[in-house]
Amino acid sequence: MAARVINVASVPHRSPFRYPGGKTWLVPYVRQWIRSLPRRPFEFAEPFAGGGIVGLSVLFDGLAEKLTLVEIDEDVASVWKTILSAQGSRLASEIMSFRPTEESVRSCLSRTPKTQFDRALQTIVRNRVQRGGIMAPGASLMRRGENGRGVASRWYPETLARRILAIFESRHRIRFRLEDGIQFIHDNANRKDMAFFIDPPYTVAGRRLYLHSQIDHERLFSDVATLRGEFLMTYDNAGPIRTLASRFRLDTHTIPMKNTHHRVMTELLVGRDLDWARKPLQLVQDALFEDLQAHGSAGRQALY
Ligand SMILES: C[S@@+](CC[C@H](N)C(=O)[O-])C[C@H]1O[C@@H](n2cnc3c(N)ncnc32)[C@H](O)[C@@H]1O
Repeated sequence: MAARVINVASVPHRSPFRYPGGKTWLVPYVRQWIRSLPRRPFEFAEPFAGGGIVGLSVLFDGLAEKLTLVEIDEDVASVWKTILSAQGSRLASEIMSFRPTEESVRSCLSRTPKTQFDRALQTIVRNRVQRGGIMAPGASLMRRGENGRGVASRWYPETLARRILAIFESRHRIRFRLEDGIQFIHDNANRKDMAFFIDPPYTVAGRRLYLHSQIDHERLFSDVATLRGEFLMTYDNAGPIRTLASRFRLDTHTIPMKNTHHRVMTELLVGRDLDWARKPLQLVQDALFEDLQAHGSAGRQALY
């Protein structure tokens, strides 16, 4: 039976970012993976967190008690650190009062932020107004945007504020670390109660999407192979990665996904035993309905 391509609109989006290479569409698979485990992990970790959509979903779905997000990009880090600090609710309010016009956006993006809070606000604005949410140097502003609304076309202040406040309210269960994801994996290799979702930059497209895109994949695999906790890695379906997986005696499985241009591509999952991924996917739709009910007809378009 052909595997289903997940409709991302069926996954409630919990992240304040619209993240390039974001894994919203993988969330139903991650739920299936966690549910297949003999024991729920106490802590869930995302060593290459980006927008953190998978970790946030696991936490909010009650599939783990604690969440650790790790990221090396200082702009992205400023957002997580601010939301998880006493300033989290202030960030939500500032977003509600920001009016995105070409002029206000250019002025916001050209400033050198003096505080972590300013940097966080600037990063959120950049993520919303640049093409594809790409924040790496060289990315450009959306010109026409959706429905000719230009730079404001992805600015959904209520949705953003709501997501930020939800994370802020759960901050006692979430920690963020600005550090190298491989080092974090190495340092936590003995944690049996921690499950790791490992989504490093894609081997091919990463350079265009992220400021930090160079990864020593071999070192990553050799550390992952020593983990005592459960883990799931995800990659583009690249030959060298398959070779590494087989060298470290890991299981691989490909699943279909749609890229931003709606082309169906294959994603490579890597783990110790991926039999759970070969079973038909159990989709849990209830969460979507709750999201839509809570936010009315604007809910669907505001999912990102
Ligand atoms: C594919 S993206 C993760 C997307 C994320 N899973 C989501 O759904 O939003 C990879 C992330 O790894 C980060 N990154 C790159 N090198 C890193 C490193 N050595 N340690 C931690 N994070 C790193 C990039 O900045 C980028 O945010």
